[in-house]
Amino acid sequence: VEQTYIMVKPDGVQRGLVGEIISRFERKGFKLTGLKLFQCPKELAEVCKFAVGLMCHEHYKDLKAKSFYPTLIDYITSGPVVCMVWEGVGVVASARKLIGSTNPLQADPGTIRGDLAVQTGRNVVHGSDSPENGKRETGRFLLLVFKHIITEMISS
Ligand code: GTP
Ligand code: MG
Repeated sequence: VEQTYIMVKPDGVQRGLVGEIISRFERKGFKLTGLKLFQCPKELAEVCKFAVGLMCHEHYKDLKAKSFYPTLIDYITSGPVVCMVWEGVGVVASARKLIGSTNPLQADPGTIRGDLAVQTGRNVVHGSDSPENGKRETGRFLLLVFKHIITEMISS
C-alpha cells in the first residue's frame, strides 16, 4: 500500500490546526497508521532544536542550495511538529492535492493551504512529493519513533 509522510509544521500546531488537518485526510478516506508529536521540554529546547534541525537537514536536503534554506530550518525548528503516516491507494498525489500549492496565495480554495495560510514560509503542512519519497520519509519517521521508544525503555 502506498504511504505518505505528512507533517504539521510548527505554525499549524501553534494555531491549533492539527485536528482540522487530520480530519481532512480522514474524511477523504485515507488511513492513519502513524502519529507522533515531537515536542521538546523547555530546558531541552536547544538540544531538541538541534535534533529536529538534524532531521530537517536530511528532510530538506534537496533545498540546501536555496537562499531561503536557513529561514526554512529556523521555521521548522521553531516549535513542536506533528508527524504522521497516511496510507491508501494514490495517497501521495491525493495528499498533495488536499494540501494545495506551496505558496498559499496560489493554493486553491478548499485546499489546506488555500483555506488556512497566506505565506510560503508558514504554509502549515508538509506532504511527500512522490511515492519514493513517501517511502523514504515514512521510513525515517518510523526509525525516529522506534529510537524514541527504545530510549524511553532504557531510561525507565
Ligand atoms: P513541503 O511539502 O513542505 O515539502 O512543501 P512543497 O513540496 O510544497 O515545497 P518545496 O518542497 O519546494 O519546499 C519546501 C518548503 O520550503 C515549503 O513548503 C516552504 O515552507 C519552504 N519554502 C519553499 N520556497 C520558499 C520560499 O521561496 N521562501 C520561504 N521562506 N520558504 C520557502
Ligand atoms: Mg516538498
